[in-house]
Amino acid sequence: MGFNVAIDGPAGAGKSTIAKELAKELGYIYVDTGAMYRAIALYLLRNGVKAEENDRISALCKEANVTIQYADGKQIVLLNGEDVNPYIRTEEVGSMASSSSTNPDVRKQLLGLQRELAASNDVIMDGRDIGTNILPNAQAKIYLTASIEVRAKRRFDELKAKGVDCDYEEIKKEIAIRDERDMNREIAPLKQAEDAVLLDTSNMSIDEVKEAMIKIVKEKQ
Ligand code: DC
Repeated sequence: MGFNVAIDGPAGAGKSTIAKELAKELGYIYVDTGAMYRAIALYLLRNGVKAEENDRISALCKEANVTIQYADGKQIVLLNGEDVNPYIRTEEVGSMASSSSTNPDVRKQLLGLQRELAASNDVIMDGRDIGTNILPNAQAKIYLTASIEVRAKRRFDELKAKGVDCDYEEIKKEIAIRDERDMNREIAPLKQAEDAVLLDTSNMSIDEVKEAMIKIVKEKQ
């Protein structure tokens, strides 16, 4: 088994931004499991599936073969061989990913890939159930969170910077819906693993969070 760092937390907590930088600094592979769920969600949307059509989701997800590759340290998600990175970051795909990831067949499909990556590499893996379910024996576990107001504001600023027209209250509402679904689903809900270190980043800069995380990982190495 490689050295495994598990990072979990709610949408917009800054997991991917920081995990990516941390991976570069430590020379580890960064595995963004949310992107895998997004790739399956994209496949479902392309096939006209609705979030509540559970039986169709169970059947169709089996046709969505998700693999990943790395180019210059960047994770590329392949859906049946197609690079889908440019299409998976929309709110529509994120929301479908949150809904379809409650389906046990979808989760089963990605579990093997995630565990294999962690078995053969030093990884920083982020998601919702990494410390609790995918890598219960990870050497370092961090639960990254921030208040809903701060998370909504970060997302709002990010979109504004990209020139996207958006509304703070609307974003906050969407994040609350996502939190509720991710934390209360039956299978592998988002929660802090007992042995995870809690980091509330509401009042921390990216550099401060990164520093705190490096310290946690170094202590376990
Ligand atoms: O981290 P993200 O926003 O890209 O994740 C999109 C959705 O995928 C998230 O709302 C829930 C689901 N997900 C999951 O169920 N388990 C994971 N390990 C990662 C993501």
